[in-house]
Amino acid sequence: VSGTPIDKPLSGRRVVITSGPTHEPIDPVRYIANRSSGKQGHAIAQAAAEAGADVILVSGPVTIPDPQGITVVHVETAKAMLQAVKNALPADIAIMAAAVADWGVAAEDGHKIKKDGSGKPPALDLIENPDILATIGHNDTLRPMLLIGFAAETQNLLENATSKLTRKRADWIVANNVSAEGGIMGGDKNTVRIVSSEGVEDWPQLDKTEVAGRLVEKIAAFFNSPPH
Ligand code: CTP
Ligand code: CA
Repeated sequence: VSGTPIDKPLSGRRVVITSGPTHEPIDPVRYIANRSSGKQGHAIAQAAAEAGADVILVSGPVTIPDPQGITVVHVETAKAMLQAVKNALPADIAIMAAAVADWGVAAEDGHKIKKDGSGKPPALDLIENPDILATIGHNDTLRPMLLIGFAAETQNLLENATSKLTRKRADWIVANNVSAEGGIMGGDKNTVRIVSSEGVEDWPQLDKTEVAGRLVEKIAAFFNSPPH
């Protein structure tokens, strides 16, 4: 965008970001969820807004506050998150930082499931949730110019991140090791590798706010000199 102030490199750009976990109801009092504080996704939303972007944050249930000056859409399930993302598109950039639950319960029970006294737990019938990143990546109408996914891995980080990059048709994958020793889940620090068709960039351990700042700088650089 010509005449963009140097400190607002994303002004005029629309960014859709997912953050936090999703909750998949089992019955009125129980759910299945992924571990996610939302800190990384929310920090990216904040950094993009500070860079002048028009940001829509689609957030699963988190305990951290909504970032200031951003449209926040609150959702609970993966299905609702997909619908909210579709509603928020088109955009120039989409960043899928949410830890979406891979499975939901096939039929939510309308009443609290009770122990029946037999000592045998109830069987849960699970169904795979829609993949939001892959759905958008494979939809030529909705796909933004720059589509960024995350890959939370406990092993074979690069291999898994690279396969997600191609399978979901993302432009970049922000890959991080979430094994227990990393302490990333819920913490304030993150060590990531950026995987793209150009190769792999290793970033040092940084605060999640610093990762967000760097990612926004990299996005701004992409729009200043698109590689293709
Ligand atoms: N993702 C998504 N919708 C899903 C599952 C994942 O949009 N139903 C997105 C995440 O937000 C992230 C990327 O896909 O940007 C990778 O998520 P991840 O859980 O690492 O990948 P999966 O494909 O679910 O593979 P797995 O959990 O089996 O490693
Ligand atoms: Ca997953």
